[in-house]
Amino acid sequence: MRDSGNFKLQQFYLKSSGTVAKTQQVYFWQSVGGTVTILRDVGKDWDMSIRIIGTGSALPAHQVTNEDLAKLVDTSDEWIRERTGIGCRRISTGETVVSLAADACRNALEDGGMEASGVELLLVATCTPERGIPCAACQVQDRLGAQNAVAFDLNAACAGFLFALHTACAYVEAGIYRNALVVGAEVLSKIVDWSDRSTCVLFGDGAGAVLVEHCREGGILGYVQHSDGARGDVLKCDSRAIQNPYISSRMEVPFVQMDGREVFAFAVRKVPASIEEALEKSRIQAAEVDLFVLHQANRRILEGIARRLGVDLERFAMNLDQVGNMSSAAIPVLLDELNREGRLKRGMTLVLAGFGAGLTYGACVMQW
Ligand code: UT7
Repeated sequence: MRDSGNFKLQQFYLKSSGTVAKTQQVYFWQSVGGTVTILRDVGKDWDMSIRIIGTGSALPAHQVTNEDLAKLVDTSDEWIRERTGIGCRRISTGETVVSLAADACRNALEDGGMEASGVELLLVATCTPERGIPCAACQVQDRLGAQNAVAFDLNAACAGFLFALHTACAYVEAGIYRNALVVGAEVLSKIVDWSDRSTCVLFGDGAGAVLVEHCREGGILGYVQHSDGARGDVLKCDSRAIQNPYISSRMEVPFVQMDGREVFAFAVRKVPASIEEALEKSRIQAAEVDLFVLHQANRRILEGIARRLGVDLERFAMNLDQVGNMSSAAIPVLLDELNREGRLKRGMTLVLAGFGAGLTYGACVMQW
């Protein structure tokens, strides 16, 4: 419902009542000087949300600069910086999705002050697992000794971490689990065509993790997520072809193929719209947001999103200069960096937003 005529919409948080169903719309009204004021609940049961209590990350040791790439393909530091904002990235020389994810989780557990045995849900967002089966999350569970956790993977490409965070939120809201480790981990360097200058300069490897727990106030205020499978061909990477006694398929090139301009246009159009949607759901104005922590694909994409939202670019956190685009790992690695630098203060309002292959996109508003 929007403000209109004599009706003025006000926020009303049902903090004291846990009995009102989440979907129930509750309206109260009062008449003051001829103006009717409608008080409405925010559509969210505030006894149930999640907040981040620990962050961690892990990056491969080997750093690759733009100059290093100029020795492999016909490119230059100038082109890459100007068109993307990326200066260097970390590339695996043996680190795996599982080893990076496990290291990131250990750091998040230490930061959050929790033993691995206390974790109830372990979600790994990745599109580059080492194995088809078992899933990366079960392998990470084993390395951590998180024997009491339910562990599974989720693939929504670059929006993967965000979708995993929302999944954890839904489980906690439903009262099924009280905490979760949510991880984004990628070794994209193994699916990149190192002779294709239009893609190999963009990506990096790494992992980030957050430890979340049930909270009664603050935490995630609202989130939205969307998928547009009809446009999946603009960013894709094939897997194994069907080969069995009954069919012999031709294997497609199993490397990332991307229509960069299409992805760019999609991100600049859809991400601000989803952020506005999440803000509206959370009853927060863009002006009240302290920090925007978005998927780190391209500095020009972030500039375009900031412009559309009418928000100063200074409120957009960035680290893509140092790490490139790490797909699902981008947001949690950036969160960990901000956390360790002391830039995240309790009570701050953050917007997280991601987009990527699928196409998938979404946003979330949270109080730190
Ligand atoms: O997580 C989501 C993953 N994907 C993305 O975020 C990608 C979104 N898209 C982008 O970031 C941009 O579209 C790119 C950075 C990929 C490309 O930038 P662009 O400004 O859209 O460049 P373009 O594709 O229009 O290419 C411009 C020129 C072309 O040359 P011609 O045809 O004008 O002669 C390309 O061949 O730049 C050339 N080019 C390069 N030149 C030097 C493409 N890649 C490179 C390169 N070095 N690495």
